[in-house]
Amino acid sequence: MCGIVGYIGKREAAPILLNGLRRLEYRGYDSAGIAVLNGDLSVVKQKGSVENLELALQEKGDRLYGATLGIAHTRWATHGDPSDRNAHPHLNGVGDIAVIHNGIIENHMSLRLELSSHGYVFRSATDTEVLVHLIDRMWKEEPSISLEYAVRRALQHVEGAYGLCVISSREPGTLVVARKGSPLVLGLGEGEYFVASDAAPIVEHTRKVVYLGDGEMAVITEAGYMVKTVENIETEKAVTELDFDLEEIEKSGYEHFMLKEIFEQPAVMEDVMRGRVRLESGSLHLGGIKDNLEHLRKAKRIIICACGTSWHAGLIGEYLIEEFARIPVEVDYASEFRYRNPVITPEDVVIVISQSGETADTLAALREAKDKGALVMGICNVVGSTIARETHCGMYTHAGPEIGVASTKAFTAQVIVLYMVALALSQGRTLGDDEIAGYLQELSEVPAKVAQILRGNEAIQSIAESYRDARNFLYLGRGYNFPVALEGALKLKEISYIHAEGYPAAEMKHGPIALIDEDMPVIFIATHDNTYTKILSNIEEVRSRKGRVIAIASEGDEEIRSLADHVIFIPSAAGPVTPLLTVIPLQLLSYHIATLRGCNVDRPRNLAKSVTVE
Ligand code: G6P
Repeated sequence: MCGIVGYIGKREAAPILLNGLRRLEYRGYDSAGIAVLNGDLSVVKQKGSVENLELALQEKGDRLYGATLGIAHTRWATHGDPSDRNAHPHLNGVGDIAVIHNGIIENHMSLRLELSSHGYVFRSATDTEVLVHLIDRMWKEEPSISLEYAVRRALQHVEGAYGLCVISSREPGTLVVARKGSPLVLGLGEGEYFVASDAAPIVEHTRKVVYLGDGEMAVITEAGYMVKTVENIETEKAVTELDFDLEEIEKSGYEHFMLKEIFEQPAVMEDVMRGRVRLESGSLHLGGIKDNLEHLRKAKRIIICACGTSWHAGLIGEYLIEEFARIPVEVDYASEFRYRNPVITPEDVVIVISQSGETADTLAALREAKDKGALVMGICNVVGSTIARETHCGMYTHAGPEIGVASTKAFTAQVIVLYMVALALSQGRTLGDDEIAGYLQELSEVPAKVAQILRGNEAIQSIAESYRDARNFLYLGRGYNFPVALEGALKLKEISYIHAEGYPAAEMKHGPIALIDEDMPVIFIATHDNTYTKILSNIEEVRSRKGRVIAIASEGDEEIRSLADHVIFIPSAAGPVTPLLTVIPLQLLSYHIATLRGCNVDRPRNLAKSVTVE
């Protein structure tokens, strides 16, 4: 999704801004642009990559040289096609105000009509352009006010979501930023300040950051910054230390971030459990929810809301919580939950799951649940994110920055957190101490088992070669592995653009079986559990229709070798932890198929890492 970078200080702004844009590329974008203030505003913006923008900038080098204030943007098209004219920054008519914006201005149509009737001419199809003309209009109406006031007055007319940065040659030396809905982080350097839509472009310059809250603005000069509400009330903001290093957002020798993140999983899994799982005593210490544990245990019902991969983790959470804690669980797409006037009572607990902690639909579901009186718990990866801040209690996944758009390590970290939560909810109620200790022991063995699966990477790559030209894929699993089938299919379609569907294996006969022929590879997750023999029958059904079978099976299963075209073995493990193992080969398979097809796995077309619009 769109990315924002801003800089004000003593150094050359353009290289800092460009580097910042590179750090934001992972969010997904289709055009990029930059504006710097050097007496006048100089703007370069165009469709395509940050790399191309850099080439275009080289041609204009002199005009940008010496500027120490600027803003830059990567755009992910919502209103208007990806094109040079729709790229940000947008300028007012005379070109002395520049705006970049994330989010959606919902009343842009009426504002556009009104501004047009006052003679404003629009040069793009974006909703953002109304902002710059609106600021211009406010300033013309009251020429004595500052840029800050012009922005403030303009925002009073705006409905929708925004994270925005504004600079103007009428007031050189000031950077005004504002936030409602779309995140903005302020980086505090020595005599210099950075602004960005997430901390990735900031961490190489400073670890001190201030997260702007909804409805807040910051006015930044070289001499300092001030945070106020849009209503002009000054706010004291806490300065937070970033908790990750630059190398965590670099590829460390891997060809892609996605591959690096897949391979990081054993270490990440250890991090998620560190300090929380105490094997010696067979106990759990979940600091983020300890004060609410009794409330959580008494829940009449738990509703899990999330989107995308996080939703799949939520489905596994449902199985885990129901099995361990015997509390009824429903899993909802956050986007559906928020609009269907759900029945929620104060006896319900809502768990929202989000890697980024910024997904607009999940955030809206959280607010809906809070309004209706439920206790809301969050499971987020990004520390200090909006969802993490707005929930009553929660747990961080501690997976480190996830840059690849297709989520991998964040997913397994979410599942581990849900596993720990499910056990904590069952403590003193449905499971005895010995049982809990046993389940914790199983969990603690997972990282080593994942490392073992990762050592089979080359074999998985050669399987991928046989299927690189497939046009469809079916993923089937049962029980804990049904959500893994969904996740495997999602991974493949996200990054290879092959159509893939996940189904509960037993549902195959109710429709998908009609699709089976020699061109339909079917992935069966067929580990040893109570549905194993049923899955074998499903495999026979596929084979008798000439479908090709790839099986994910438990180590030592010789029977399946004779039935499947390819088998990927995973170490044996108890049912509740198997999703953490079976998903690994599926991540690798998608990765290899996508790279063999020449796809950009880290930045797949049309997708965004963090979806901050509805
Ligand atoms: C986007 C990403 C997905 C992600 C989903 C939810 O669609 O491309 O990978 O699963 O958002 O994101 P969240 O940050 O809320 O987990």
